[in-house]
Amino acid sequence: MEITAAVSRSPDSPFTLESVDLDEPRPDEVLVRIHATGLCHTDLTFKSRIPGPAVLGHEGAGVVEAVGAQVTGIAPGDHVLLSYRSCGDCVQCRAKHPSYCSRSALLNSSGGRADGSATLFQNGTRLFGAFFGQSSLAQYALAASGNVVVVDPDLDLTVAAPLGCGFQTGAGAVLNVLVPEPDSRLVVFGAGGVGLAAVMAAKAVGVEVVVVVDPVASRRDKAVELGASQAVDPTTEDVETAVRGATHALDTTARPEVVAIALRVLRPRGMLVVVGLGARHATIDVLDLMLSGKTIRGCTEGDADPSEFIPQLLALHAQGRFPMEAIVRRYDAADIETAVADSRSGDTIKPVLVW
Ligand SMILES: NC(=O)c1ccc[n+]([C@@H]2O[C@H](COP(=O)([O-])OP(=O)(O)OC[C@H]3O[C@@H](n4cnc5c(N)ncnc54)[C@H](O)[C@@H]3O)[C@@H](O)[C@H]2O)c1
Ligand SMILES: [Zn+2]
Ligand SMILES: [Zn+2]
Repeated sequence: MEITAAVSRSPDSPFTLESVDLDEPRPDEVLVRIHATGLCHTDLTFKSRIPGPAVLGHEGAGVVEAVGAQVTGIAPGDHVLLSYRSCGDCVQCRAKHPSYCSRSALLNSSGGRADGSATLFQNGTRLFGAFFGQSSLAQYALAASGNVVVVDPDLDLTVAAPLGCGFQTGAGAVLNVLVPEPDSRLVVFGAGGVGLAAVMAAKAVGVEVVVVVDPVASRRDKAVELGASQAVDPTTEDVETAVRGATHALDTTARPEVVAIALRVLRPRGMLVVVGLGARHATIDVLDLMLSGKTIRGCTEGDADPSEFIPQLLALHAQGRFPMEAIVRRYDAADIETAVADSRSGDTIKPVLVW
């Protein structure tokens, strides 16, 4: 079918709304009319790395238009959030850690279906698509039943769309991996959508000391509004002094110097979780790691199974304990370049495009 999508023609070109062809749903696929799509920093990172035309977007939310014959439990008319894909069958999936699925790269970022076929075309030429099993920067998306989460039709899809990646990532890093206690001292580096979801999750489970570090003043203010006990400006303050003694740390900046500081400021037996996608290498003090019994570990998609974790976050949201609307700003899909610019400048924490 012919649809409108935000196409990235090359790393340096702006997104442009173009007419593209979406394949028919296969028997195990779900066709979703996209209402809203969150923009995650990871979309921009992939945009900068994919040479040819691509349709990105992996925080889609919408209404099911059609389902393939093998799909069960999802029906046309259902309101759904889209998340990442996993195979359901490998060692990690069976152990209930689907974000480390052995087929993750094939299913989420190969540019097509696992069998190599394309889902998106333009004038007969294939586009990079099926991003996170959705490519939802578009009016319609093809998902698989495994990355579709059915939600209450009363839910505001514009606010909830980022649960599929950014909010799940930050909240899951805290609730599933760091697991702080109320008397823990958590420090979050970077107050973007991921970092502030982590702050909301920490407050939801009663962590009293949550320190946020970010150079953008409006983001620090938002962190405090969401319950952070302190917000530190790394451009004017001595971060190490301000956050020394943390029991838990989360890095969302993917900056080598920040990762090194985050590990250094932990008290003995503290844990640092890194979730940023950026610099590949950082230098860490292994003597300190060893002598202090510290832990550093990575975490993808909050180590969460979306079908279980997204409903948990929605339940917290319904109780007013995960106020995600506070960091969402809505844009018409046609204004995607404004959304990108506002995200890069720091003005908008979590842009969500409405189709
Ligand atoms: N692991 C995963 O599954 C996963 C999922 C989603 C996003 N990500 C990645 O997580 C990262 C965060 O995503 P986001 O959408 O919140 O991005 P973002 O760009 O909105 O947030 C990053 C924040 O870091 C801040 N920052 C920059 N320099 C800093 C410094 N020296 N000290 C402290 N803060 C600093 C920025 O001002 C910004 O607010 C990105 O790299 C993204 O690709 C990973
Ligand atoms: Zn798997
Ligand atoms: Zn993402």
